[in-house]
Amino acid sequence: MRWILANDVEDVGRIASDIVLDYLKSHYESVLALPTGRTPEAMYNKLVEACQTQQCFEHTTLFNLDEYVGLPTDHPSSFASYVRRCLLDRVKIDKSRCHAPNGVAPNLAAECARYERAIQLAGGIDLAILGLGTNGHIGFNEPGSSFNSTTHVVNLSESTRTANAEYFTGGEVPKQAITMGIETIMGADRILLLASGSKKKDAIRRLRNEPPNIDFPASALKNHRDVTIITDRAAG
Ligand code: PGA
Repeated sequence: MRWILANDVEDVGRIASDIVLDYLKSHYESVLALPTGRTPEAMYNKLVEACQTQQCFEHTTLFNLDEYVGLPTDHPSSFASYVRRCLLDRVKIDKSRCHAPNGVAPNLAAECARYERAIQLAGGIDLAILGLGTNGHIGFNEPGSSFNSTTHVVNLSESTRTANAEYFTGGEVPKQAITMGIETIMGADRILLLASGSKKKDAIRRLRNEPPNIDFPASALKNHRDVTIITDRAAG
């Protein structure tokens, strides 16, 4: 694992964006897994800025890491809307190559199988960009998630629902989500994990100190050959 200590969340975004742009330059037609949350916002802003003067996502395929069950893709709190707002609506990209799990699919198991198949048909994930939950989740793989999981439905923990409540003014945070599994994420060629803010301090400490164990999902990354973790001073 490579650790990079950034000054603040803006700096995390700048460093992450530089790494992503370098990756895109040296890997034509790459497949990315995309995170949501507060921390990646600065990265998306930097990427959008860079895309005004250079080619970025023209040959890239994108898969969102996760989605709430019960939210249609056009719901303002859906992760599909977040990624559209932060990135897709602001850069030149072939929308037919941008994928998200359908949280309102009538058959969720079939939807998970469809999403996983789409990822594998694209050749698997090349670069997975991840956030880190205070409880160690990556994607929405909550504590206890099997390291052998592919795309599946999860029950969200109370701490995750509380942490994300600010995106749901007036509405309840969904209780379930569809997420790429840990095995799907670990299949990536390269992994970038971003964490910022003092609320992530304990999770970062656990990531440093704990051996791989399912009670702290991000610890699975210790079994991967190419992981870069970027934290700001408050988190790291
Ligand atoms: P964040 O957390 O909102 O602090 O970026 C990401 C996550 O919980 O996955």
